[in-house]
Amino acid sequence: LGANLGAASVFLGSAASAGQILSIGDMSSSYNRNIWWMSIAVIVMAIVIFIGVSYALFYTVNKFREDKHTAEPDQFHGNNRLEQLLIGVPVIIVTIITILAARTMAIVNPTPTDALHVNVTGAQFWWAFEYPGSPLQGTTGTVTNGNELVIPAGRQIAITVTAKDVIHAFWAPNLGGQRDAIPGSKKTFQIDTDRPGVYQGNCSLLCGASHANMRFKVVALPKAQYDTFIAAAQSYKAPAPTTASERNGYNIFMQGKASAGAAPCSSCHRVQGTPAAGAVGPDMSFFGSRNTLGAGIWEGKEREAHIQPWIKHCAAVKPGCEMPPYLSLSAQDLGDLEAYILSLKLPDAAAYWGKVP
Ligand code: CUA
Repeated sequence: LGANLGAASVFLGSAASAGQILSIGDMSSSYNRNIWWMSIAVIVMAIVIFIGVSYALFYTVNKFREDKHTAEPDQFHGNNRLEQLLIGVPVIIVTIITILAARTMAIVNPTPTDALHVNVTGAQFWWAFEYPGSPLQGTTGTVTNGNELVIPAGRQIAITVTAKDVIHAFWAPNLGGQRDAIPGSKKTFQIDTDRPGVYQGNCSLLCGASHANMRFKVVALPKAQYDTFIAAAQSYKAPAPTTASERNGYNIFMQGKASAGAAPCSSCHRVQGTPAAGAVGPDMSFFGSRNTLGAGIWEGKEREAHIQPWIKHCAAVKPGCEMPPYLSLSAQDLGDLEAYILSLKLPDAAAYWGKVP
């Protein structure tokens, strides 16, 4: 708990820029509630022990101080009752704490029954969120999204976390504990919240140049809105480009532009319902419905201002970004690519930003 508190205060700095408070004291998550009550129990015991020990200390110092005792005090060795007390009381205290801790660990790591399953993959320096299709999920096919995890409020979310390249750690402090994302390993744990809202998450294990820029958002929607989102995401087919600009952007995205030495975006990115099926970079299917860019570095208007510089040379605006630069694309082509990816939108009712009460 001490480590968590320390790490949380370190993260408050990066939360401020997003206008959100990262807090392990957010009581809308059952994980945080259970850890809180466990901590209160231990703190109360510590206070009682502190008062007891302080009392004994001052009592002894006062009662046996030198000016009250001129004669030589009794000389003796050993006191069985005192020794039994000194061993017995700590054993009882530690046993109580062990039972409380084991109980809390069991409560906050339940066996998923009707939880919503999401596969989370950390990569330098972004997050993939994949909803495997199943009747329990309300979908039959897999849905994926990059850097924005949409969940229903009031339901346990079973996160199975892994990594592509190096070790990362998934942590949205308001929703539950952190877990390492380790290549080749899959670990399942649960997060939850009762309260719809947007929560900040961050990679919490040093993983390279843009560790601090490896953020994500958790958008917790009321159940009905979540159901609308996931149903639309499931049946989503990217809208066909309509304007001349979008069509040029579409062509560069799918085929690249040989005259400018630009490789197709589609070899690394996926757009549901188009030939683009790359899995190297974030899924772009609902890019127009997202609110963040660069794994949560920019939001809203700031995000729009950074799309073209990002495509042109992302490592110049985010250290360590692995997307190759597109320096020779003309301003027109960059604008057209932006127009195309912004046209990739979920239908209005399913666009999750703005549906948060
Ligand atoms: Cu990924 Cu730090």
